Amino acid sequence: MSEEKLAIDGGGKAVEKLGPFPTKIGSEELLEILSMWRLSPENEARIKEIVQGEANIQGPHLFRYYNPKPSKVEAAETAMRELIGTKYCLAVNSCTSALVASYRALGIGASDEVIVPGYTFFATSATVASSNAIPVIVDIDDSLNIDPTAIDKAITKRTKAIAAVHMRGAPAQMDAIIDIANKKGIPVVEDFAQSGGGSFGGRRLGSIGTIGCCSFDYYKVIVSGEGGFVTTDDEWLYTRAQSWHDCAACWRPDRFAKERKEGELFCGENYRMSELEGAVALAQIRKTEKMLAGYRRAKKQIKDTIEKLPGLSFRRLTDEAGDTAICLVMFLPDADITRRAIEAMQAEGVPAGGIYDSKVRDWHIYYYWEHILDKKTVAADGLPWSAVPENELPKYSREMCPRTLDLLSRAVMVDINYNYSEQDCNAIALAINKVLRSTLK
Ligand SMILES: Cc1ncc(COP(=O)(O)O)c(C=O)c1O
Repeated sequence: MSEEKLAIDGGGKAVEKLGPFPTKIGSEELLEILSMWRLSPENEARIKEIVQGEANIQGPHLFRYYNPKPSKVEAAETAMRELIGTKYCLAVNSCTSALVASYRALGIGASDEVIVPGYTFFATSATVASSNAIPVIVDIDDSLNIDPTAIDKAITKRTKAIAAVHMRGAPAQMDAIIDIANKKGIPVVEDFAQSGGGSFGGRRLGSIGTIGCCSFDYYKVIVSGEGGFVTTDDEWLYTRAQSWHDCAACWRPDRFAKERKEGELFCGENYRMSELEGAVALAQIRKTEKMLAGYRRAKKQIKDTIEKLPGLSFRRLTDEAGDTAICLVMFLPDADITRRAIEAMQAEGVPAGGIYDSKVRDWHIYYYWEHILDKKTVAADGLPWSAVPENELPKYSREMCPRTLDLLSRAVMVDINYNYSEQDCNAIALAINKVLRSTLK
């Protein structure tokens, strides 16, 4: 057997050239995505033929970093930054992730407290606990958002943030909240998961507090199935949120370089948004103003047509012009009348629902957050509760926010659709009038 000289010793190369190989993602994946849009069978067949006839189809990379540019996620970040009006914006895979990244960016951890409203999706407070800090739950007011006076009373030496949540499309009382926060030097985390595109005092939600967190999950104003954004004017918080959202630091020009400033690098997780969500998010952000105009037109027509009967009041809007108008909330005199009115409206075909019914579980109301009320813990270390002496922990109970339960038990929520026609709005309003005339008499 002749001894062949190895390439490393100056011999010929055994493998001169490889490929071309098809990309990992190609026509099959594109057609799979296309099938989700449910086109007519004829059109789907036409597109299928075109796609299959395309030679060497170049599928996308789908990983936001190292993606042959342009990146859809980056474009979505730019569009969101322009929409919200902050200097920085980070795309993540959910608002839950945005909240953890924000709390962590603020340096929140064991024995710290974050003030949260008793009415918000569980994620706002669960992420405080999963960041090893203590959620302090306070009442809402008739805006259905956190009551600024309750915040003031709940501040302690451990308070490291206030979570100002903008529930059901409408802004919290941001002027009063920012006043309190500034006086005490406490950062404000704006959770605008349910109010993307809304504003207060002419400024978009997510740009008023220290840092903002938005959700793009399917049920929100602006959607990409799953997804979220962190918004801030603070470069350092943005950098730290980036660090948390990508433990491999792929976002850094040289991800293996030493940290440029102490606190830039730490053990984070992986909350990166994929290019698929980025593409959908980008298209949605571009449609936001049009959707908001539709919601506002429809809500105004319905609200203006509802008779102002004794016993009926509307949710207080802290800034009507900044309401995204995704729903209309009315208060009735008591929980029984409210339940009856909701059933009657549903029977008429109105898309109405209740918010709090003591027999129906709902993750948006603190009453059902037993993980927190009963101080559940994931590990034997007992965190987050074990970091604080027992007598200094908040006194949790199902009755701790009576105003929240009272307001929510008397609320009727009517969903607004931005595609409603004038006839749709009129029919809904007249049906509401019919029911309220009967139930409030
Ligand atoms: C107020 C609020 N915060 C946070 C979240 C969490 O959002 P995501 O589903 O994107 O994690 C939600 C979702 O329902 C929410 O309504």
